[in-house]
Amino acid sequence: MDMTGSSPCKFLNEHTQSMPNVFKDLSSSITTCMVPKQVQDVEHEEPGSANSPLPTMGGGLGKNSYVRNSNGQADFMERMFPTVLKPVDEMKILEKDTDVVRVVDFGCSSGPNTIRNVETILRRMKRNLSDGECPEFQAFFQDLHETDFNTLFRFFKTVSANSGDNGSDDLKYFAVGAPGSCYGRIFPKSSVHFAMSTFALHWLSRIPPVIYDQNDEAYFGAHNELVFASKATIAAYAEQANIDLRNFLDARATEMVPGGVMTLVFGVRKTYYPYSIGPTDMTGEKVWDEMISEGIVDAKLKESFKSYMYFRYLKDVEEVLDSFSSMFKTEQRHVSPFFTYPPGLTAREQGARFVSLQRGINSTVFEAHFGKEATNIFWERYEEELVRGFSDGTITDDEENYYLILVVVATRR
Ligand SMILES: C[S@@+](CC[C@H](N)C(=O)[O-])C[C@H]1O[C@@H](n2cnc3c(N)ncnc32)[C@H](O)[C@@H]1O
Repeated sequence: MDMTGSSPCKFLNEHTQSMPNVFKDLSSSITTCMVPKQVQDVEHEEPGSANSPLPTMGGGLGKNSYVRNSNGQADFMERMFPTVLKPVDEMKILEKDTDVVRVVDFGCSSGPNTIRNVETILRRMKRNLSDGECPEFQAFFQDLHETDFNTLFRFFKTVSANSGDNGSDDLKYFAVGAPGSCYGRIFPKSSVHFAMSTFALHWLSRIPPVIYDQNDEAYFGAHNELVFASKATIAAYAEQANIDLRNFLDARATEMVPGGVMTLVFGVRKTYYPYSIGPTDMTGEKVWDEMISEGIVDAKLKESFKSYMYFRYLKDVEEVLDSFSSMFKTEQRHVSPFFTYPPGLTAREQGARFVSLQRGINSTVFEAHFGKEATNIFWERYEEELVRGFSDGTITDDEENYYLILVVVATRR
């Protein structure tokens, strides 16, 4: 199917121009939706409370949407797929008598990356099936309740409507939305064959409450970038991150079938303290402070804003994973740099790429907390600050400073 031709889905055409063929070739899918009753829900703080809004990505199709600002994540997965697909080739499960094969993407967001990632897995599974075997495929798109599932579901509608013969290359599957927190149970026991999560597990289930407590040594004060955090603040985040990862693995251990494959992709750091994860660590806070000094943003508002994002210390992750070795056999575990842009760009182009990545990730949260107008001013100034930094060399995006992403592939024993 040609998604770049005269499709009525203009946004998809624009987005997919730089996308690999696997998504452009997307064939039809059979789409259903159900709301599962959760066995155990993990509570999040209410959006708009004293604490920060939930970490959902930019919804819709506009300038700040995840749909338009997630090429970096897509490119990363494109590089990783040869590694990730190897265990899929070795999955014994497909050779057994299985009527329905279930694939889940935890932290899917509103597309289209999740569709491409899931379909890449499904195509590979189908390719590996010998003639005569034909289980049905069910793909679950899982994310927080507040996620813009409507935008995601419309991709299926558009794709189906445009595909004419309803699946020319035979990739048919039942697509299902599964809202909830991936840190709790979402699926029935022994029901999931392939579990995947890309760029989601570095969002915590909650901000550690002690960092708001003025009487606690973990109190984070007016700052919101963890590069400014004390050791006690980092310890509070690290503890929450360990609990979350354990809860995630516990839930998946219950939900996955023996022999099922799990692929996890999330941000990590190699130095425990000071916390540093990328070249623009300090830039955001500098811009907010400037806006406070000009009276555009209230200082108290900034003080109450803390981030759910925490790139775990690699050794902490390894310890947690090792403690689950009786349930999951690690097939691969490696750290790769995340390139925000290709080499050779001007400072202006570098700045634009960085801001695009951040817009997709943070716009919804910023708008909910600081308001739309302040957020727009923030993005404009943030971009100028980045361009200045890239031009004069005060911000460098090199091997020392890349975001680091951990890729883990494991099988359920
Ligand atoms: C950067 S997006 C990644 C989207 C997609 N997987 C990709 O690779 O482009 C991170 C997603 O994780 C989701 N997320 C954060 N915390 C979550 C949780 N506790 N349970 C499920 N999803 C969560 C966010 O809502 C967001 O959609």
